[in-house]
Amino acid sequence: VEQRTPFIAGNWKMNLDHLQAIAFVQKLSWSLSDAKHDFSQVEVAVFPPFTDLRSVQTLISADKLELGFGSQDVSQHDSGAYTGEISGNFLARLDVQYAIVGHSERRQFHGETDAVVGAKAAAAVRHSIVPIICVGETAEDLAEHGPSAVPVAQLREVLSSLSADADIVVAYEPVWAIGSGKAATAEQAEQVCSALRETLVELLGEERATATRILYGGSVKSENIARFMREPNIDGALVGGASLAIEEFSRIIQFKK
Ligand code: G3P
Repeated sequence: VEQRTPFIAGNWKMNLDHLQAIAFVQKLSWSLSDAKHDFSQVEVAVFPPFTDLRSVQTLISADKLELGFGSQDVSQHDSGAYTGEISGNFLARLDVQYAIVGHSERRQFHGETDAVVGAKAAAAVRHSIVPIICVGETAEDLAEHGPSAVPVAQLREVLSSLSADADIVVAYEPVWAIGSGKAATAEQAEQVCSALRETLVELLGEERATATRILYGGSVKSENIARFMREPNIDGALVGGASLAIEEFSRIIQFKK
């Protein structure tokens, strides 16, 4: 199990323009270097808006920062008449390592289905970008189907678009816990993450399932991160609101201390 490096990802959503992004990344990296953060022990990546990616890439490469970065979405198409879309090819050329796909806000406000999310994950993989596949149930799903049924069904459907050897990260984000200040309990999150792990075993085989990281997301803060990280099937966090405050995000990253 120790082969999975813990991963703390900061999803900025639609916050911070490219100038604010530069200042933010600089301060975050100072804070982590003051704390002597060991990136080989806990991997860290930020997910800025598309318009910030070039600035963040330039800063990270110029200062040789160990911080990773990714995009919040990717088009399912590689090029062509798709106004407003961003190709995985463009992202790969900016050294983007990860792309979040199927975030509940994309599903909710942009009507993304599991089929679309699967196509987006496949597009990321085509360009050697690791998709962070988001799944999670709404409060209504939870009441109607119990905790694991909907996230497991979403994961199955998305994985049907990918080959079994694709490098992926899974993020379990219960919709009712996102931005609500009401995180799932560690036990609740572990229950679903272990069901997701079993699904990975079934679909990808034991070896890949054991190597694949599953993150929890939804009102993660410095006060609750350590508790989540103690669970055997939770390998990190996808952090929204708390990733926008440097000291707080830095404390989350250093959850072990
Ligand atoms: O992608 C992360 C996110 O949806 C969780 O947001 O603000 O509850 O940490 P937040």
